[in-house]
Amino acid sequence: MKIFVTRQIPGDHLKKLGEGGHEVTISEFDRPLTPEELLERAKGVDGLLSLLSDKIDGEVVDAIGPQLKVVSNYAVGFDNINIDELSDRGIVVTNTPSDEVNEAVAEHTWALILGLIRRIVEADEATRRGAYKGWEPDIFLGTSLKGKTLGIVGLGRIGKMVARRAKGYGMSVIYTKRTKDPESEKELGIEFNSLEELLKKSDVVTLHTPLTEETRHLISNAWPYGQKADTLAQMKKGSFLVNTSRGPVVREHDLVEALKSGHIKGAALDVFESEPNIDPELFGMPNVITTPHIASATTEARDEMGKLAVSGLLDVFSDKIPSNIVKKDVWQKRRK
Ligand code: DGY
Repeated sequence: MKIFVTRQIPGDHLKKLGEGGHEVTISEFDRPLTPEELLERAKGVDGLLSLLSDKIDGEVVDAIGPQLKVVSNYAVGFDNINIDELSDRGIVVTNTPSDEVNEAVAEHTWALILGLIRRIVEADEATRRGAYKGWEPDIFLGTSLKGKTLGIVGLGRIGKMVARRAKGYGMSVIYTKRTKDPESEKELGIEFNSLEELLKKSDVVTLHTPLTEETRHLISNAWPYGQKADTLAQMKKGSFLVNTSRGPVVREHDLVEALKSGHIKGAALDVFESEPNIDPELFGMPNVITTPHIASATTEARDEMGKLAVSGLLDVFSDKIPSNIVKKDVWQKRRK
């Protein structure tokens, strides 16, 4: 089978594809491909290993050709892929969910929460600049977490791992989700709230939803679908926002305004509305931490992602349903 990999990935997992007798081509560029470059290279392949920066929809897969059987996305999130259009065509999509990735994202979320409330980046910058002239009682005063409330929006595997760690800091944890999760409530000692209640009560809000039409601009100044909710205004005055989910869950411009007004005290963002572009005003704000979409960037997580991305392709080629298939019911009508 012919496989195209849109960018080299860490580790030597891709070797396994070649050992299976498949013809593998890896993009020669160390950057995301333009849509034209991707098409040029992927035409005629049976399998595609894509990254979250590749936009894959019906038009793209039609141009690749009717022999395309599987798209293996090297990410947990798959909002870069039009799942419905690919499913309609019988193309299997796989992703890379694993404990290692979830742990990495949960750990990065905590790195951001702690960095934000203890002003680590700001303090580091001042120290390097030579501004430290001796101990002072009132420099870089932060906020304690003990007794504060953490609001988790989206209680999937990552959200639960974040909740578990919050207990170590003595925080109360509340969560919101489409459907209540009584089992996790019992196990983790957390409480369900509506989004509105959660935003009102939380000192720190952390986002762990996938990006869907329902969650796009969930945190904004005005709900874009005609409802009245103004979720940034609903947030407690002086609270913090952390986003390691997907950038468009937050309307970046509205967040900038809420930070400027002081309603939101600080934000830590690993993802941005229009990556890799970032609202430049965020860079001028000392109460904002930005990281370049690295929440899952640990050696351990990347290793698992590589394994899963490769096994997704190999499983489909050997007619075995992959454990990491995104939409199971496509299997019955898969292309052969
Ligand atoms: C994911 O897996 O969805 C991350 O955002 C990138 O690794």
